[in-house]
Amino acid sequence: MKGIVLAGGTGTRLHPITISVSKQLLPVGDKPMIYYPLSVLMAAGVQEILVITRPTDQPLFRTLLGDGAHLGLDISYAEQPQPRGIAEALLLGADHIGDDSVALILGDNIFHGPSFSRLLQREADQVDGATLFGYRVQDPERYGVGVTDADGRLLAIEEKPARPRSNRAITGLYLYDNEVVDIAKNIQPSARGELEISDVNAEYLRRGRAKLVDLGRGFAWLDTGTFESLVQAGQYVRTLEERQGVRIACLEELALRMGFIDADACHALGAAMPNSDYGRYVMNVARELTGDVEYLPAG
Ligand code: DAU
Repeated sequence: MKGIVLAGGTGTRLHPITISVSKQLLPVGDKPMIYYPLSVLMAAGVQEILVITRPTDQPLFRTLLGDGAHLGLDISYAEQPQPRGIAEALLLGADHIGDDSVALILGDNIFHGPSFSRLLQREADQVDGATLFGYRVQDPERYGVGVTDADGRLLAIEEKPARPRSNRAITGLYLYDNEVVDIAKNIQPSARGELEISDVNAEYLRRGRAKLVDLGRGFAWLDTGTFESLVQAGQYVRTLEERQGVRIACLEELALRMGFIDADACHALGAAMPNSDYGRYVMNVARELTGDVEYLPAG
């Protein structure tokens, strides 16, 4: 399976912060926002990842992530000059997808919950059609909404309906089989001039090939769309991290745990950031897995 992180857009709701900096590079806790969606792809076992950004932002993402080799990844880049819709990522990424299946994730979506890696790997392994992830929210009118029957079967998908028929938001993580490229090529721009991802999903549904996996209670799918929600997301991450002394979306740790890199390589990545708690944490993780320490000190 290939991966795509869509990290374009203008971030106007966060102006002036995002006038000169891409939204997906803003800090959430002690790491850049894009670490969170990247960690989701890595946890699903995806290593070949295309990062789509505005042309002007691309050098900054390259500085941060490079070609991904240090994390055992193969990261490439594409430009989206204008935000013409989330589904455009599938057209910009068509060559990258090739004959494979794909996991598309929005660069500003943060997922965290128990056994999420296991769920992701299971769903990624068996993707056939479209696999969408639903999450109960209080304000479904702000999202793509999935309407299901009593057994959880998906009946309809609506993009930001004025009168939502369910409170199940469709999150910004989409798993597709290879048919998605053809489907994306054939959808038309919506009234607001965008290639809507909900139209891609609705086409899969029409073909009887879309399913909605519910993320359930106790799971966190966090919003970073407004300044308030961005701050809250950072507070959520830091509360858990400080309480447990483990980090959420630490890419170096994930690369090690997934077997993409070995403990020495992980330690070297931490050692390159010796002045930050994050860097020290990465070194500790590497030492812990080689048995040099028995537990991870906080921080
Ligand atoms: O977050 C989940 C929601 O994302 C879904 O429930 C909706 O179905 C889906 O349409 C989308 O809704 P949003 O209102 O959040 O879409 P927005 O236009 O804000 O774009 C989401 C992110 O994707 C944002 O960080 C910018 C980026 N983006 C968006 C578009 C339209 C791009 O990089 N390029 C684009 O062309």
